[in-house]
Amino acid sequence: MKNLDALICINGKFTPPEEATVSVFDRGFLYGDSVYEVTLTYDKVPYLLETHLERLERSALGIGMELEWSADQIKDLIYRGLKEFDNDRLYIRIMVTRGCGEIGLDPSLSDGQNLYIIFRELKPQPKIYYIEGVSLITAGILRNPKKSVDPNVKSGNYLNNVLAISQAKEKGAYDAIMLNASGNVTESTTANIWIVENDTFITPPLEAGLLGGITRATLIEIAQKNDLPVKEENFTPERMRIAQEVFITSSTREVMPVTSVDGQGIGNSKPGEKTKALHNLYRQYIQENISQEKKKAPWNQD
Ligand SMILES: Cc1ncc(COP(=O)(O)O)c(C=O)c1O
Repeated sequence: MKNLDALICINGKFTPPEEATVSVFDRGFLYGDSVYEVTLTYDKVPYLLETHLERLERSALGIGMELEWSADQIKDLIYRGLKEFDNDRLYIRIMVTRGCGEIGLDPSLSDGQNLYIIFRELKPQPKIYYIEGVSLITAGILRNPKKSVDPNVKSGNYLNNVLAISQAKEKGAYDAIMLNASGNVTESTTANIWIVENDTFITPPLEAGLLGGITRATLIEIAQKNDLPVKEENFTPERMRIAQEVFITSSTREVMPVTSVDGQGIGNSKPGEKTKALHNLYRQYIQENISQEKKKAPWNQD
């Protein structure tokens, strides 16, 4: 079964994508009543898998779900899936829905959770995005407030973000900046946002209402370790437009430069030096992490 494009695991059973089906009664499908994670492999090793599984568990608890699979069980399924591929680079999406049952919002109608894992070839980000930078626009759609579904819960309910990125695409932009009700920046539709001001890296605090990105947390740690000034602070799109540099971060994008905000060029409209330097440090971190993980990977212990 090598050279696959994709493989699906549903509740522990592996199937080709064309045979993988989801019940129309699944609450994930009906209501977005689910949580998920996305990670990827470097050199066949799933990156920061344990951290992603911890966040999956936290997200589930955030919507009142105690996961019916342990992190070790999910990890085991992931390693089993990975063995079916030759590819060095894979995209892995782990989803847990509250399951199926009688139609109705009441979570107690569920007859048990469903676990879905999608493995597929990773489509790398186009290099041009890192050479030229990407553009953001401020969306009219707000990020949902912390007192609704907390954005720090990575739930399957992304409709606000879908509407926000539609606004970006209508304006020819790469992604959208989502604000909170106070007018401060939270994050983009699927990435955390950063600015550089006076050579200091700044990203909004979790209190602004955003997903605590694993890349974001890793970069804060890397900056601190390297004595690079970094802080969590609220900012507005107006402040972004006059920042020295802007960039976005996520597991699949790493550190992606932003060279235009609401049609206004950032700095000299080229990816910033601080952004590139942080990205290089991040790449080093990935390499170190992957070489350590490789020693522990099950296929190296056979
Ligand atoms: C809304 C949102 N913010 C931020 C991120 C970045 O998170 P991470 O760095 O953990 O990939 C994501 C990732 O998908 C996201 O969906």
